[in-house]
Amino acid sequence: MILKGKKVVLRAVEEEDLDMLRELSNDPDFERMVVGWSFPISKKDEAEWFSRQRNGLDKLQYIIETEADGAVGMIGLKDIDWKNGQASGAGMRIARKEIRTRGLATDAWMTLMRYAFDELRLNRVNGSALVYNAASIKVCERVGFKREGVKRQAVYKNGEYHDMIYYGCLRSDYEALIAENHYWDDDVSK
Ligand SMILES: CC(C)(COP(=O)(O)OP(=O)(O)OC[C@H]1O[C@@H](n2cnc3c(N)ncnc32)[C@H](O)[C@@H]1OP(=O)(O)O)[C@@H](O)C(=O)NCCC(=O)NCCS
Repeated sequence: MILKGKKVVLRAVEEEDLDMLRELSNDPDFERMVVGWSFPISKKDEAEWFSRQRNGLDKLQYIIETEADGAVGMIGLKDIDWKNGQASGAGMRIARKEIRTRGLATDAWMTLMRYAFDELRLNRVNGSALVYNAASIKVCERVGFKREGVKRQAVYKNGEYHDMIYYGCLRSDYEALIAENHYWDDDVSK
């Protein structure tokens, strides 16, 4: 099922999205902001990654799409733990820099939170951000994540160790947020 937000639609990853995803993964500005290895990714690597991808009980990956610009990014949930009712956010990214800061990642997260809490019946979503990733921190804190701790010197990049901020959003945090900001009150997608 696709997920409809107010500005974005979340849908499955298709083969035609791979160029966009590969170019982003190979962008040094992007790599600096995310945790992971800085290997160059070829078309073959990307195609092999795609052939292994399955949305299912342990993870869900979505392309973020807008009516005006088509596929613009990605977001997902990984490590879905049905017993404890939790999952971790994965891979939030808006590929094209010129359409950042328009609230697309915020809407994608709100849409995924609604699905996580109202459909999957999760109780908690985990998040994290490098301490200098101001845009990611802004989005996390705006969509209901609470800071739960800092893992010191957790990530080595650009010749230095950097701290990671760890977040959690409980179902009750999300419900308090939408009661306060009325995010979905004018939503016509449901
Ligand atoms: C993080 C990211 C997904 C945000 O996407 P986006 O669509 O621009 O997010 P939004 O527009 O919903 O919100 C971003 C907010 O951060 C703010 N912001 C962006 N860069 C900032 C900076 N350097 N310092 C302070 N605030 C910043 C924006 O102004 C905006 O806040 P506003 O709406 O109050 O103006 C995007 O920047 C991205 O893809 N970055 C590279 C990948 C990445 O860092 N992923 C997260 C890994 S944890």
